[in-house]
Amino acid sequence: MLILGIETSCDETAAAVVNDARVILASRVLSQTLEHAPYGGIVPEIAARSHLDHLDRLVAEALAEAKVGLAELDGIAATGGPGLIGGVIVGITTAKALALVHRKPLIAVNHLEGHALTARLSDDLPFPYLLLLATGGHCQLLIVEGVGRYKRLGTTIDDAVGEAFDKAAKMLGLGYPGGPEIERAAGESSAADRRRFPLPRPLAGRPGCDFSFSGLKTALRQSIEGLRPDDLDGGSPKRAVVAAIAGAFQDAVADVMADRAGNALTMFLERYPDAATRHLVIAGGVAANGALRARLAVLADKRGLRLVAPPLALCTDNAAMIAWAGVERLRLGFTDGLDFAPRPRWPLDPTAPRAVGAGVKA
Ligand code: KG4
Ligand code: ZN
Repeated sequence: MLILGIETSCDETAAAVVNDARVILASRVLSQTLEHAPYGGIVPEIAARSHLDHLDRLVAEALAEAKVGLAELDGIAATGGPGLIGGVIVGITTAKALALVHRKPLIAVNHLEGHALTARLSDDLPFPYLLLLATGGHCQLLIVEGVGRYKRLGTTIDDAVGEAFDKAAKMLGLGYPGGPEIERAAGESSAADRRRFPLPRPLAGRPGCDFSFSGLKTALRQSIEGLRPDDLDGGSPKRAVVAAIAGAFQDAVADVMADRAGNALTMFLERYPDAATRHLVIAGGVAANGALRARLAVLADKRGLRLVAPPLALCTDNAAMIAWAGVERLRLGFTDGLDFAPRPRWPLDPTAPRAVGAGVKA
Protein backbone atom coordinates (compact mmCIF):
# COMPACT_ATOMS: atom_id res chain seq x y z
CA MET A 1 0.00 0.00 0.00
CA LEU A 2 1.41 3.39 -1.06
CA ILE A 3 0.07 6.63 0.39
CA LEU A 4 0.87 10.25 -0.40
CA GLY A 5 0.65 12.49 2.67
CA ILE A 6 0.19 16.28 2.74
CA GLU A 7 0.66 18.54 5.77
CA THR A 8 -0.17 22.27 5.79
CA SER A 9 -1.85 22.94 9.15
CA CYS A 10 0.78 25.21 10.68
CA ASP A 11 4.04 26.68 9.41
CA GLU A 12 5.53 23.68 7.63
CA THR A 13 4.56 22.74 4.08
CA ALA A 14 5.20 19.03 3.70
CA ALA A 15 4.64 16.08 1.36
CA ALA A 16 5.67 12.45 1.82
CA VAL A 17 5.20 8.97 0.42
CA VAL A 18 4.98 6.07 2.89
CA ASN A 19 4.09 2.42 2.46
CA ASP A 20 2.38 -0.06 4.77
CA ALA A 21 5.70 -1.80 5.46
CA ARG A 22 6.62 1.34 7.49
CA VAL A 23 9.06 2.61 4.86
CA ILE A 24 9.28 6.36 4.24
CA LEU A 25 10.03 6.54 0.52
CA ALA A 26 10.25 10.34 0.54
CA SER A 27 9.58 13.11 3.03
CA ARG A 28 9.89 16.78 2.13
CA VAL A 29 9.42 19.52 4.70
CA LEU A 30 9.67 23.22 3.92
CA SER A 31 9.73 25.34 7.06
CA GLN A 32 8.34 28.87 6.93
CA THR A 33 10.24 29.90 10.07
CA LEU A 34 12.17 32.66 8.31
CA GLU A 35 8.99 34.14 6.82
CA HIS A 36 7.36 34.44 10.26
CA ALA A 37 10.49 35.26 12.30
CA PRO A 38 10.19 39.08 11.94
CA TYR A 39 6.75 38.88 13.62
CA GLY A 40 7.85 36.69 16.57
CA GLY A 41 5.10 34.17 15.82
CA ILE A 42 3.08 32.63 13.00
CA VAL A 43 1.02 34.97 10.81
CA PRO A 44 -1.90 32.87 9.41
CA GLU A 45 -2.24 34.78 6.11
CA ILE A 46 1.48 34.49 5.36
CA ALA A 47 1.32 30.78 6.20
CA ALA A 48 -1.63 30.06 3.88
CA ARG A 49 -0.08 31.98 0.99
CA SER A 50 3.25 30.23 1.41
CA HIS A 51 1.59 26.77 1.46
CA LEU A 52 -0.14 27.70 -1.79
CA ASP A 53 3.15 28.81 -3.37
CA HIS A 54 5.10 25.67 -2.48
CA LEU A 55 2.82 22.66 -2.02
CA ASP A 56 2.52 21.52 -5.66
CA ARG A 57 6.29 21.53 -6.10
CA LEU A 58 6.84 19.60 -2.83
CA VAL A 59 4.30 16.95 -3.85
CA ALA A 60 6.03 16.57 -7.24
CA GLU A 61 9.44 16.31 -5.55
CA ALA A 62 8.25 13.73 -3.03
CA LEU A 63 6.72 11.55 -5.76
CA ALA A 64 9.87 11.87 -7.90
CA GLU A 65 12.14 10.97 -5.00
CA ALA A 66 9.94 7.97 -4.14
CA LYS A 67 9.89 7.02 -7.84
CA VAL A 68 6.13 6.67 -7.59
CA GLY A 69 3.58 7.89 -10.13
CA LEU A 70 0.22 9.24 -8.99
CA ALA A 71 -1.46 6.28 -10.69
CA GLU A 72 0.40 3.84 -8.42
CA LEU A 73 -0.86 5.40 -5.18
CA ASP A 74 -3.49 3.62 -3.09
CA GLY A 75 -4.72 6.79 -1.44
CA ILE A 76 -4.11 10.44 -0.73
CA ALA A 77 -4.01 11.63 2.86
CA ALA A 78 -3.99 15.25 3.96
CA THR A 79 -4.36 17.02 7.28
CA GLY A 80 -8.02 17.99 7.61
CA GLY A 81 -7.54 19.86 10.90
CA PRO A 82 -7.07 21.05 13.54
CA GLY A 83 -4.88 24.01 12.67
CA LEU A 84 -4.79 27.35 10.90
CA ILE A 85 -7.78 27.04 8.63
CA GLY A 86 -6.29 28.83 5.59
CA GLY A 87 -3.42 26.37 5.48
CA VAL A 88 -5.62 23.34 6.09
CA ILE A 89 -7.83 24.41 3.16
CA VAL A 90 -4.80 24.62 0.84
CA GLY A 91 -3.67 21.07 1.72
CA ILE A 92 -7.04 19.34 1.75
CA THR A 93 -8.16 21.03 -1.48
CA THR A 94 -4.98 19.90 -3.24
CA ALA A 95 -5.58 16.36 -1.94
CA LYS A 96 -9.21 16.41 -3.09
CA ALA A 97 -8.20 17.55 -6.58
CA LEU A 98 -5.58 14.78 -6.89
CA ALA A 99 -8.02 12.19 -5.52
CA LEU A 100 -10.74 13.26 -7.95
CA VAL A 101 -8.54 13.39 -11.05
CA HIS A 102 -6.68 10.14 -10.33
CA ARG A 103 -9.68 8.32 -8.81
CA LYS A 104 -8.00 7.60 -5.47
CA PRO A 105 -9.51 7.41 -1.99
CA LEU A 106 -9.15 10.58 0.10
CA ILE A 107 -8.17 10.25 3.75
CA ALA A 108 -8.68 13.41 5.84
CA VAL A 109 -6.29 13.01 8.76
CA ASN A 110 -6.53 14.62 12.17
CA HIS A 111 -3.11 16.28 12.60
CA LEU A 112 -3.03 15.12 16.22
CA GLU A 113 -3.68 11.54 15.13
CA GLY A 114 -0.66 11.93 12.84
CA HIS A 115 1.49 12.76 15.88
CA ALA A 116 -0.23 10.08 17.97
CA LEU A 117 0.44 7.21 15.52
CA THR A 118 4.03 8.21 14.62
CA ALA A 119 5.46 5.76 17.16
CA ARG A 120 3.87 2.92 15.19
CA LEU A 121 5.68 4.10 12.05
CA SER A 122 9.04 4.57 13.77
CA ASP A 123 8.91 1.78 16.37
CA ASP A 124 6.08 -0.57 15.31
CA LEU A 125 4.39 -0.19 18.71
CA PRO A 126 1.32 -2.25 19.58
CA PHE A 127 -1.77 -0.60 21.11
CA PRO A 128 -2.39 0.54 23.78
CA TYR A 129 0.24 3.08 24.83
CA LEU A 130 0.35 6.26 26.82
CA LEU A 131 1.11 9.40 24.83
CA LEU A 132 2.38 12.80 25.88
CA LEU A 133 1.63 15.10 22.97
CA ALA A 134 3.59 18.32 23.40
CA THR A 135 3.50 20.82 20.54
CA GLY A 136 3.19 24.55 19.91
CA GLY A 137 -0.60 24.25 19.96
CA HIS A 138 -1.31 21.33 22.29
CA CYS A 139 -0.25 19.72 25.53
CA GLN A 140 -2.19 16.53 26.23
CA LEU A 141 -1.85 13.14 27.88
CA LEU A 142 -3.78 10.44 26.02
CA ILE A 143 -4.18 6.69 26.01
CA VAL A 144 -3.90 5.57 22.40
CA GLU A 145 -6.20 2.52 22.30
CA GLY A 146 -6.46 2.09 18.55
CA VAL A 147 -6.80 4.00 15.29
CA GLY A 148 -9.42 6.67 15.95
CA ARG A 149 -9.68 5.56 19.59
CA TYR A 150 -8.20 7.95 22.12
CA LYS A 151 -8.86 8.51 25.80
CA ARG A 152 -7.73 11.95 26.89
CA LEU A 153 -6.51 12.01 30.48
CA GLY A 154 -5.54 15.66 30.62
CA THR A 155 -4.89 18.80 28.64
CA THR A 156 -3.70 22.34 29.22
CA ILE A 157 -6.04 24.83 30.80
CA ASP A 158 -4.19 27.77 29.24
CA ASP A 159 -1.04 27.75 27.05
CA ALA A 160 0.40 24.78 25.18
CA VAL A 161 3.89 23.83 26.37
CA GLY A 162 5.58 24.77 23.07
CA GLU A 163 3.79 28.11 23.21
CA ALA A 164 5.17 28.61 26.73
CA PHE A 165 8.71 27.92 25.45
CA ASP A 166 8.15 30.37 22.58
CA LYS A 167 6.82 33.13 24.86
CA ALA A 168 9.61 32.59 27.41
CA ALA A 169 12.19 32.86 24.63
CA LYS A 170 10.65 36.09 23.42
CA MET A 171 10.78 37.59 26.93
CA LEU A 172 14.45 36.62 27.15
CA GLY A 173 15.23 38.21 23.80
CA LEU A 174 15.89 34.83 22.17
CA GLY A 175 14.77 33.86 18.65
CA TYR A 176 11.76 32.00 17.32
CA PRO A 177 10.91 29.13 17.58
CA GLY A 178 11.80 29.43 21.22
CA GLY A 179 12.11 25.80 22.34
CA PRO A 180 15.49 25.06 20.75
CA GLU A 181 16.82 28.51 21.80
CA ILE A 182 15.80 27.96 25.44
CA GLU A 183 17.34 24.50 25.41
CA ARG A 184 20.62 25.81 23.98
CA ALA A 185 20.81 28.69 26.49
CA ALA A 186 19.83 26.38 29.40
CA GLY A 187 22.76 24.14 28.48
CA GLU A 188 25.16 26.99 29.33
CA SER A 189 23.92 27.28 32.95
CA SER A 190 24.82 25.35 36.10
CA ALA A 191 22.38 24.09 38.73
CA ALA A 192 23.69 26.80 41.06
CA ASP A 193 23.02 29.54 38.46
CA ARG A 194 19.44 28.34 38.08
CA ARG A 195 18.70 28.30 41.79
CA ARG A 196 18.88 32.10 41.81
CA PHE A 197 15.57 32.11 39.90
CA PRO A 198 13.02 29.98 41.78
CA LEU A 199 9.95 29.44 39.55
CA PRO A 200 6.60 27.80 40.40
CA ARG A 201 5.54 24.30 39.27
CA PRO A 202 1.86 24.94 38.37
CA LEU A 203 -0.53 22.09 39.33
CA ALA A 204 2.35 19.82 40.46
CA GLY A 205 1.29 17.56 43.31
CA ARG A 206 -2.37 18.04 42.47
CA PRO A 207 -4.57 15.15 41.28
CA GLY A 208 -5.34 14.71 37.59
CA CYS A 209 -3.31 15.19 34.44
CA ASP A 210 -4.12 18.74 33.34
CA PHE A 211 -1.40 21.32 32.70
CA SER A 212 -1.10 25.06 33.23
CA PHE A 213 1.74 27.30 32.10
CA SER A 214 0.42 30.85 32.46
CA GLY A 215 1.54 31.25 36.10
CA LEU A 216 5.02 30.13 35.13
CA LYS A 217 5.08 32.73 32.37
CA THR A 218 4.09 35.48 34.81
CA ALA A 219 6.75 34.38 37.31
CA LEU A 220 9.32 34.42 34.53
CA ARG A 221 8.38 37.99 33.60
CA GLN A 222 8.72 39.03 37.26
CA SER A 223 12.17 37.41 37.46
CA ILE A 224 13.29 39.39 34.41
CA GLU A 225 11.81 42.63 35.74
CA GLY A 226 13.54 42.07 39.08
CA LEU A 227 17.05 41.75 37.62
CA ARG A 228 19.79 43.85 39.23
CA PRO A 229 21.78 46.48 37.30
CA ASP A 230 24.87 44.23 37.29
CA ASP A 231 22.80 41.51 35.53
CA LEU A 232 22.31 43.84 32.59
CA ASP A 233 24.44 44.88 29.71
CA GLY A 234 23.13 47.89 27.80
CA GLY A 235 19.62 47.36 29.23
CA SER A 236 19.36 43.66 28.28
CA PRO A 237 20.16 40.70 30.51
CA LYS A 238 23.71 39.35 30.09
CA ARG A 239 24.00 36.01 28.28
CA ALA A 240 24.89 34.19 31.52
CA VAL A 241 21.75 35.58 33.16
CA VAL A 242 19.60 34.62 30.17
CA ALA A 243 21.11 31.12 30.36
CA ALA A 244 20.33 30.81 34.09
CA ILE A 245 16.71 31.95 33.66
CA ALA A 246 16.24 29.71 30.60
CA GLY A 247 17.61 26.81 32.64
CA ALA A 248 15.30 27.57 35.56
CA PHE A 249 12.35 27.72 33.17
CA GLN A 250 13.24 24.43 31.48
CA ASP A 251 13.66 22.73 34.87
CA ALA A 252 10.22 23.96 35.96
CA VAL A 253 8.60 22.72 32.74
CA ALA A 254 10.32 19.33 33.02
CA ASP A 255 9.19 19.01 36.66
CA VAL A 256 5.59 19.82 35.75
CA MET A 257 5.56 17.45 32.78
CA ALA A 258 7.04 14.60 34.83
CA ASP A 259 4.54 15.21 37.65
CA ARG A 260 1.51 15.18 35.32
CA ALA A 261 2.84 12.23 33.30
CA GLY A 262 3.33 10.34 36.57
CA ASN A 263 -0.38 10.64 37.36
CA ALA A 264 -1.23 9.58 33.80
CA LEU A 265 1.00 6.50 34.15
CA THR A 266 -0.98 5.47 37.24
CA MET A 267 -4.27 5.84 35.35
CA PHE A 268 -2.91 3.96 32.34
CA LEU A 269 -1.68 1.04 34.45
CA GLU A 270 -5.02 0.89 36.30
CA ARG A 271 -6.90 0.73 33.02
CA TYR A 272 -4.54 -1.73 31.34
CA PRO A 273 -3.02 -3.80 34.17
CA ASP A 274 -2.49 -6.77 31.85
CA ALA A 275 -1.06 -4.97 28.83
CA ALA A 276 1.62 -7.19 27.30
CA THR A 277 3.80 -4.21 26.45
CA ARG A 278 4.03 -0.92 28.25
CA HIS A 279 5.17 2.21 26.51
CA LEU A 280 5.19 5.92 27.21
CA VAL A 281 5.48 7.80 23.93
CA ILE A 282 6.44 11.44 23.61
CA ALA A 283 5.47 13.22 20.41
CA GLY A 284 5.27 16.76 19.03
CA GLY A 285 7.96 19.38 18.59
CA VAL A 286 8.67 19.74 22.32
CA ALA A 287 9.65 16.05 22.36
CA ALA A 288 12.92 17.28 20.85
CA ASN A 289 13.89 18.66 24.28
CA GLY A 290 16.70 16.56 25.72
CA ALA A 291 16.12 17.57 29.36
CA LEU A 292 12.47 16.60 29.08
CA ARG A 293 13.27 13.29 27.42
CA ALA A 294 15.78 12.45 30.15
CA ARG A 295 13.27 13.19 32.92
CA LEU A 296 10.52 11.14 31.28
CA ALA A 297 12.88 8.23 30.62
CA VAL A 298 13.70 8.02 34.34
CA LEU A 299 10.01 8.27 35.26
CA ALA A 300 8.97 5.57 32.77
CA ASP A 301 11.79 3.28 33.86
CA LYS A 302 10.80 3.54 37.53
CA ARG A 303 7.26 2.49 36.69
CA GLY A 304 8.21 -0.40 34.40
CA LEU A 305 7.51 1.32 31.09
CA ARG A 306 9.78 2.04 28.16
CA LEU A 307 10.00 5.62 26.88
CA VAL A 308 9.65 5.80 23.11
CA ALA A 309 10.69 9.04 21.45
CA PRO A 310 10.46 8.98 17.66
CA PRO A 311 13.39 10.55 15.72
CA LEU A 312 13.33 14.35 15.80
CA ALA A 313 12.37 14.71 12.13
CA LEU A 314 9.20 12.73 12.90
CA CYS A 315 8.47 14.63 16.14
CA THR A 316 8.16 18.05 14.53
CA ASP A 317 5.52 18.63 11.87
CA ASN A 318 6.00 16.49 8.76
CA ALA A 319 3.92 14.70 6.13
CA ALA A 320 5.27 11.18 6.73
CA MET A 321 3.14 11.03 9.89
CA ILE A 322 0.09 12.11 7.88
CA ALA A 323 0.77 9.52 5.16
CA TRP A 324 1.24 6.88 7.87
CA ALA A 325 -2.05 7.81 9.55
CA GLY A 326 -3.50 7.45 6.04
CA VAL A 327 -2.08 3.90 5.82
CA GLU A 328 -3.56 3.02 9.22
CA ARG A 329 -6.97 4.44 8.34
CA LEU A 330 -7.16 3.03 4.81
CA ARG A 331 -6.24 -0.45 6.11
CA LEU A 332 -9.40 -0.25 8.23
CA GLY A 333 -11.47 1.11 5.36
CA PHE A 334 -11.77 4.63 6.78
CA THR A 335 -11.95 7.08 3.89
CA ASP A 336 -13.56 10.50 3.44
CA GLY A 337 -15.81 12.05 0.84
CA LEU A 338 -14.77 14.94 -1.39
CA ASP A 339 -17.25 17.02 0.64
CA PHE A 340 -15.05 16.75 3.76
CA ALA A 341 -15.08 20.15 5.47
CA PRO A 342 -11.74 21.31 7.00
CA ARG A 343 -11.89 21.63 10.77
CA PRO A 344 -10.12 24.40 12.71
CA ARG A 345 -10.86 22.42 15.91
CA TRP A 346 -10.89 18.63 16.01
CA PRO A 347 -10.35 16.98 19.42
CA LEU A 348 -8.99 13.41 19.40
CA ASP A 349 -11.31 12.44 22.23
CA PRO A 350 -14.57 14.37 21.81
CA THR A 351 -15.98 12.78 24.97
CA ALA A 352 -13.22 14.15 27.24
CA PRO A 353 -14.40 16.64 29.84
CA ARG A 354 -13.11 20.17 29.33
CA ALA A 355 -10.19 21.00 31.59
CA VAL A 356 -11.15 23.19 34.53
CA GLY A 357 -10.84 26.81 33.45
CA ALA A 358 -10.20 25.77 29.85
CA GLY A 359 -10.41 28.39 27.15
CA VAL A 360 -10.81 27.57 23.48
CA LYS A 361 -8.17 24.85 23.19
CA ALA A 362 -9.25 21.40 21.98
O1 KG4 B 1 4.88 19.83 16.72
P1 KG4 B 1 5.46 21.13 16.28
O2 KG4 B 1 6.59 21.08 15.28
O3 KG4 B 1 4.37 22.06 15.67
C1 KG4 B 1 3.10 22.18 16.20
O4 KG4 B 1 2.94 23.06 17.07
O5 KG4 B 1 2.20 21.39 15.78
O6 KG4 B 1 5.93 21.91 17.61
C2 KG4 B 1 6.52 23.18 17.57
C3 KG4 B 1 6.85 23.60 18.98
C4 KG4 B 1 7.36 25.04 19.08
O7 KG4 B 1 6.60 25.70 20.09
C5 KG4 B 1 8.82 24.89 19.48
O8 KG4 B 1 9.30 25.95 20.28
C6 KG4 B 1 8.80 23.58 20.24
O9 KG4 B 1 7.89 22.77 19.53
N1 KG4 B 1 10.12 22.97 20.30
C7 KG4 B 1 10.82 22.76 21.44
C8 KG4 B 1 12.08 22.24 21.05
N2 KG4 B 1 12.08 22.13 19.68
C9 KG4 B 1 10.89 22.57 19.24
N3 KG4 B 1 10.49 23.00 22.72
C10 KG4 B 1 11.43 22.70 23.66
N4 KG4 B 1 12.65 22.21 23.37
C11 KG4 B 1 13.03 21.96 22.10
N5 KG4 B 1 14.26 21.49 21.82
ZN1 ZN C 1 2.11 19.29 15.08
